[in-house]
Amino acid sequence: MQIGIDKIVFQAPAYYLELHTLAKAREVDSLKYEKGFMQSQMAVCPLDEDIVTLAAEATQKLLQDENVENIAMFLFATESSVDASKAAGLYVHGLLDLPKKMRVIELKQACYSSAAALSMAKDYIASHPEKKVLVLCSDIAKYGLGTSGEVTQGAGAVAMLVSANPRLLVLQGENTYLSEDIMDFWRPYGELYPSVDGKLSIETYLRFFETVYADYLEQNKKTTASFDAFCFHMPYGKLAYKAMQQLLDKYVITEEEKEKLEQRFFKSTHYNKRIGNIYTGSLFLSLLSLLETDHTLKAGDTIGLFAYGSGATGEFFSLQLVDGYQEHLEKAYHESKMQERKELSFEEYEAILKAEKDSRKTLENKPFVFLGLEEKKRQYQKR
Ligand code: HMG
Repeated sequence: MQIGIDKIVFQAPAYYLELHTLAKAREVDSLKYEKGFMQSQMAVCPLDEDIVTLAAEATQKLLQDENVENIAMFLFATESSVDASKAAGLYVHGLLDLPKKMRVIELKQACYSSAAALSMAKDYIASHPEKKVLVLCSDIAKYGLGTSGEVTQGAGAVAMLVSANPRLLVLQGENTYLSEDIMDFWRPYGELYPSVDGKLSIETYLRFFETVYADYLEQNKKTTASFDAFCFHMPYGKLAYKAMQQLLDKYVITEEEKEKLEQRFFKSTHYNKRIGNIYTGSLFLSLLSLLETDHTLKAGDTIGLFAYGSGATGEFFSLQLVDGYQEHLEKAYHESKMQERKELSFEEYEAILKAEKDSRKTLENKPFVFLGLEEKKRQYQKR
């Protein structure tokens, strides 16, 4: 039986900041952000958007025209959870009035848990082929004003429907993974911002990629020529590019193949470079970027994917394109949502991060808004 991604939708927050605006304010050469990080903009969430409203909007679009009755499980991957106990997916479940007879669970392992959710969805469908699983990745990545991680902030949600006989991509082969207890990036309870050992996080990311990729080739009896494109967890474009170069340098392939893989890599940064890091959704946003901008891929082509979550767990897996996949992408929706975003001035951005300004009345065009807490209960409005 073929199991995989039947549908995928991305939701960007309402605001963004141009990175040349940030560079000017921080008195940094803007080429550092443009070339050194390979990023051009950063998504910013106003106070009335959060991981729930982003996820609800993505899910509403995803499930438009779908029979929701056979969704048996809803896995919500996040590392910017809004509650230590209640799963964020339950708010989405309520806002969208989803069927009551389903499991709703939140998963955590930094940016990695979305890949685990996809794999768990596959295993569930293997034994319940008539059912579907909803996988949500939703995060707000914040490092704080004036920090070295500031330029790598971002926010957004990716919603995926996983099913048998998918219309987009089939999960293939045996995934390979690696876990080690490493203090490269973590966020103790109650802390707004993560603690980061930047250099260690980069070294670990690249080392984990090297290991799980080599294991994948060995375990699945594949070579680099078995892949038509690669997608990476993308905290910022330059690090994923380094992983790509590491692969191209180590494995002997022709100049022509190298050129093809590099070109496709640049396509895979299309949305990410305008959004920034969205933690759990970042790998899948890169996948969407590739599928929606590359016109040379075709049915039967194989994409290799590297998932990484600090702390740390890495995984390599692959997806094969299904015949007619192009007709089931939501490219026009994604581009229109990107166009609708409002550009912030530096002062507006700073005010949001300092939470000085109550921006909760500004989002008139959003279907879901976060109204704040009442008696410690999160209040959401569906319009
Ligand atoms: P930094 O120390 O400010 O940056 O922060 P830098 O000095 O290393 O410069 C970055 C690049 O810009 C370098 O290129 C410079 O040479 C270049 P590289 O040497 O890497 O090729 N550069 C310039 N280029 C052109 N013109 C110029 C110029 N100046 C400099 N004028 C750091 C970098 C990543 C440490 C910081 O942003 C940070 O801490 N970010 C957050 C952590 C992070 O993203 N780590 C990545 C791996 S961990 C991960 O992916 C997991 C994560 O998503 C979380 C999770 O799993 O939950 C983060």
